[in-house]
Amino acid sequence: MSPTLTRRRLLAGVAGAAGLAGAGGAAAWAGGLFDSQLVAPTADLVARTEAARRRADGRTVRVALNPRPVTLDLGGRQVQTWGYHESAPGPLIRARAGDVLRVEVTNGLAAGTSVHWHGVALRNDMDGVPGVTQQPIAAGGRHTYEFTVPDPGTYFYHPHSGVQLDRGLYGVLVVDDPHEAGRYDQEWIVVLDDWVDGTGRTPDDVLASLQSMGGHGDMPGMAGMDHGSMGGMSGMPMGGMETMTSPLLGGAGDVTYPHYLINGRTPEAPVTLAARPRQPVRIRLVNAASDTAFRVALGGHRLTVTHSDGFPVTPTACDALVLGMGERADVTVELSDGVFPLVAVAEGKGGQGLALVRTGAGSAPSATVHLPELDRRVLLTGGLRPADAVRLERREADRVHRLVLGGSMMPYRWTLNGAAFDKLDPLVVGQGERVRLEFVNQTTMFHPMHVHGHTFAVADTGVRKDTVIVVPKQTVAVEFDATNPGQWMTHCHNIYHAESGMMINLAYQK
Ligand code: C2O
Ligand code: CU
Repeated sequence: MSPTLTRRRLLAGVAGAAGLAGAGGAAAWAGGLFDSQLVAPTADLVARTEAARRRADGRTVRVALNPRPVTLDLGGRQVQTWGYHESAPGPLIRARAGDVLRVEVTNGLAAGTSVHWHGVALRNDMDGVPGVTQQPIAAGGRHTYEFTVPDPGTYFYHPHSGVQLDRGLYGVLVVDDPHEAGRYDQEWIVVLDDWVDGTGRTPDDVLASLQSMGGHGDMPGMAGMDHGSMGGMSGMPMGGMETMTSPLLGGAGDVTYPHYLINGRTPEAPVTLAARPRQPVRIRLVNAASDTAFRVALGGHRLTVTHSDGFPVTPTACDALVLGMGERADVTVELSDGVFPLVAVAEGKGGQGLALVRTGAGSAPSATVHLPELDRRVLLTGGLRPADAVRLERREADRVHRLVLGGSMMPYRWTLNGAAFDKLDPLVVGQGERVRLEFVNQTTMFHPMHVHGHTFAVADTGVRKDTVIVVPKQTVAVEFDATNPGQWMTHCHNIYHAESGMMINLAYQK
């Protein structure tokens, strides 16, 4: 997800950056807009906004992250990959709302990297987007992130550099609410992932094969073919093709994965989550996958969703829950006595992740267990309602931006308003404005659309989120108040789509 093609232009916005900024004045965007007209990540306004967040009683939480080549054991299967430590997910980072997080990154990779704090309304210069808010952290280099975490919730962190997220580079950030009365006494963090790295191809190979299949005429007659006529295409180097569709989401992905993981383990060697019977448990679910939505259910139980993307919702019961890439949900469940499969089906793809919930005696389910809950009341998080405390007050929009989601598999290209990231002018907003974004999906595939640095309200339901699934031929409008100045990536959280153009800079104008 690093915008390599536009680095020169974007770096003009990073004041003082290694001689690239400033020299010769501000670069012009295609629409006649100048970088000098935008609020730079290093602007005073950004620093003042951060100062207003600092609390006298806030602590500083210190963390070290060391992305590096690692060997992971996925459960009998060893893979060479890149990780933040010797297992995936990376270290759990935990702070209280109002704390300052100080993260020292030492880059042990042979490539440049970055760390993005997905969902956090942080100061713009700490957002971790190379080419926009910082220089990449060079191989062997160091970088310190330091920012206030203002809002409680379940977040995650990952690189914003190419398709590195599709390796083992992801971890969870939990921000606790100091005022929250714990109505649960057990908590599990459950991270879902689609896995390919180290199984014969890297994510970079997958991206290259997706992008080359359209480009070299090696599939005559396919050029320009719309995604709809084809469904998903496998990222297998040999160009194997199959349709991946979901009744709920439409086109469900572009890449076939050999493994689906829960907390870094394949279904053949699942993790066990232990509790006492009848104990209320809070499960923090994170979809860290790159190209896969998951449908999640717990055998023999219903789930009560309490939070979406960190923010509270009107508690809502369901049998199964769909999470797109980048989405999180907190659910509570009161456990029965026995052993129960927690299943995450790769929506529209076949294959699943598995974990075991154990409160008593019982035999483990098979890796391919099918849960009836998966076909009962299935919830998409965009349909939830916000808790009263986080409802965005009604207000007329000052600024409306319409973003038409488009794309094709042949060539492999994903667009907003007909253009890819390197050709798109920033979406301009003004400080203090109520902003409305309309995501108009004209493709036959779903896109989980993510806005950095803000938690929007989905217009139809009011649910507060930072990543929302937009299904084919649907329009989803979201609204937020522009109170976090800077330049914020807005993109599809299918990282192959983001990396192939479906991304734009939402920029505050001076
Ligand atoms: Cu997890 Cu740009 O996002
Ligand atoms: Cu997409």
